[in-house]
Amino acid sequence: MKLSTKLIHAGAEPDPSTGAIMTPIYQTSTYVQSAPGKNKGFEYARSQNPTRKALEEALAVIENGKYGLAFSSGVAATDAVIKLLNPGDEVIAGNDMYGGTYRLFTKIFEKYGIRFHYVNMQDTENIRPLINDKTRLIWTETPTNPLINITDIAGTASLIKGKNIMLCVDNTFASPYLQNPLDLGADIVLHSSTKYLGGHSDVIQGALVMNDAALREQLYFIQKSCGAVPGPMDCFLVLRGIKTLHVRMERHCENGRKIAHWLRKHPKLGHVYWCGFEDHPGYHVAKSQMRDFGGMLSFTLKDDSIETALKLLSSTKIFALAESLGGVESLINHPASMTHASIPKEERIKNGLSDSLIRLSVGIEDADDLIEDLQAALG
Ligand SMILES: Cc1ncc(COP(=O)(O)O)c(C=O)c1O
Repeated sequence: MKLSTKLIHAGAEPDPSTGAIMTPIYQTSTYVQSAPGKNKGFEYARSQNPTRKALEEALAVIENGKYGLAFSSGVAATDAVIKLLNPGDEVIAGNDMYGGTYRLFTKIFEKYGIRFHYVNMQDTENIRPLINDKTRLIWTETPTNPLINITDIAGTASLIKGKNIMLCVDNTFASPYLQNPLDLGADIVLHSSTKYLGGHSDVIQGALVMNDAALREQLYFIQKSCGAVPGPMDCFLVLRGIKTLHVRMERHCENGRKIAHWLRKHPKLGHVYWCGFEDHPGYHVAKSQMRDFGGMLSFTLKDDSIETALKLLSSTKIFALAESLGGVESLINHPASMTHASIPKEERIKNGLSDSLIRLSVGIEDADDLIEDLQAALG
């Protein structure tokens, strides 16, 4: 099946009790057993829920994986992956990533004895010297949040081939429409399903997809033991979102392209970060591992001050000033004070995340209206 067909039909079987074409929202905490241990495969809803099961099957199909697991947020999915590790284990992570992931690593897991190394992953050769016999996990976002850097997934996977090291790719920015990391050698794909999978800014959720049965068992054990499971209504919303991922993503990409090129010509702008520019350092890798370049982009202002950035951020009328991304409506964000505020300023500036950096999640409105909105706000 081609991707568009898979997105609509993945995990969708008519409901066995009524034939309902849409998976019902099984709003139940438990299931009646005919005798102790005799049940229909569902015992208690933290462990199993039919709406979640349909979603988890869909997640696996659309990421070309064997197993999907849904979590109550993207951060909860990240948390589950790190809980695979033991004190003393080491992780090599990209130096540009969602601030909440960085916070989880530094403020929660470091104190349990897990060591994190941060490195610029635009060149895979930067990763090699950090690999040692304690390394258990390589963590990368591609494209990254918010600087739209690209990691070569296949190149990174080849560095650890045959070693007891996993590669986890946060595929939130690309979505499965643009990129399938398991096909390129990743062991685990992570999504903040809150974003493109849900697509309508109405749900918080996370996902993991993998091929290895033993890894699935370990992650399922963490999911049910730690309990960060999504409710059935939220699973229904993500299942519904997935059905239109391809048509939304096509428009996100088209609008993203138009806006990136327009921004680049604007006299008040400094640098525009978008991986579809031929002179982007990761362009060739992006072109080979992604199907298009997406609707996420960032830019700096020539006047690199927080004040000028804040003025612009509060002047747009269609772009809403808000955290999050990947919904049908366009959002504007100031990483330094919003999504990435948990990264210390020094660390942030060192890695290229400047005070005036502004991130856009380009929605699926009319591109001309979006450009007009930015033009008016930039003055
Ligand atoms: C790239 C990326 N990964 C993970 C997360 C965390 O997801 P959630 O907010 O669903 O917990 C986010 C949130 O913005 C994100 O942008």
